[in-house]
Amino acid sequence: MAEKTTLSAIKADVGSIAGHQVVHPDVIEAARASLKEAVSLGVIEDFYVATAGDDLQLLMTHRRGVDNPKVHETAWLTFQRGTEVAKELHLYGAGQDLLVDAFSGNVRGLGPGSAEIEMVERPSEPVAIFMMDKTEPGAFNLPIFRIFADPFNSAGLVIDTAMHMGFRFEVWDIEEHRRIFLNCPEQMYDLLAFIGTKGRFVIKRVYARSNKVPKDEPIACISTDKLSQIAGKYVGKDDPVGIVRAQSGLPGMGEILEAWAWPFLVSGWNRGSHNGPLMVVGQKDNRTARFDGPPRCFGLGFQIANATLVKPPVDLFDDPSFEPARRQAAELADYMRRHGPFEPHRLPMDEMEYTTMPELMEKHKGKWEDVR
Ligand code: 13P
Ligand code: 13P
Ligand code: MG
Ligand code: MG
Repeated sequence: MAEKTTLSAIKADVGSIAGHQVVHPDVIEAARASLKEAVSLGVIEDFYVATAGDDLQLLMTHRRGVDNPKVHETAWLTFQRGTEVAKELHLYGAGQDLLVDAFSGNVRGLGPGSAEIEMVERPSEPVAIFMMDKTEPGAFNLPIFRIFADPFNSAGLVIDTAMHMGFRFEVWDIEEHRRIFLNCPEQMYDLLAFIGTKGRFVIKRVYARSNKVPKDEPIACISTDKLSQIAGKYVGKDDPVGIVRAQSGLPGMGEILEAWAWPFLVSGWNRGSHNGPLMVVGQKDNRTARFDGPPRCFGLGFQIANATLVKPPVDLFDDPSFEPARRQAAELADYMRRHGPFEPHRLPMDEMEYTTMPELMEKHKGKWEDVR
């Protein structure tokens, strides 16, 4: 059996400048130093520290499999070191996503988000890592569906023999904490019926149905950590990260990128309580601005080789072909903003991360007159 490689993307907001915009360079430096130590200790093989707006993204390769306590502890300690720097600089929301004081074996449920894939490396292993800020895991549903199931997006579904066999989707119901597996194309309509409700049903993993990779080995994985449910109160939107493997019987990188050439609406944006367009950006624009948005997606492309990340990565959305989508996103942001406090710009009451409703109900208690 070939030795397996694991790619772990673990992220957290440990504080930012100015307000909820970007990670400070000193925090990035602290994270690099911490992961460098982890390499020298033999915990991980390689790493790349990225950011998505105000979220610190630890991209790590290792031989320890998913949910490994040592790797997760490394991420946790790295976030703690970043938090210390953030506190010294009085950065905004220092330690925001570290919800507990003590680490207990796995970052899941403790605040950070994680997407991990253990794989038998193919002779060439291209991967895309998509990092979103000011939105939620369900924001991945639409592009992931289009990449792996929409023949109008991915030509290979029609004209590549392996892709033509379709893909298997693992969908999580993040309210009821359960999952279901659905095969495309034959269960496509059932799949869509669920994942259209993106605040509740989220695509967690995708598997190939051809023999291009082992059947139980994910070819895509999305973080589905839901901070609002973990903490029971608002502590920041659960900005997600996703990994997608490319080429050789899987969707090509071009097909993977094609799914983002149109700015679909996602929930999040200001105070995690508004719908707005997702703007794909290169590093140059990897930060939120207007109304803490519009929500962003930043993407990096790597090749994995013997459990290392071949660098430098490709800045996937730094291309003129995405300019029309960015322009349209800016126009849509304008359009949505003009609704102010009205739905569907403002989220429905039960999905808002911030609300004054309980206080208002209390304040006006007894003043409501019966109209029946
Ligand atoms: P592969 O079949 O080599 O992955 O190439 C497909 C492709 O990327 C075409 O755009
Ligand atoms: P973050 O989740 O990215 O910290 O954003 C919080 C927020 O409320 C922005 O308006
Ligand atoms: Mg923040
Ligand atoms: Mg964020």
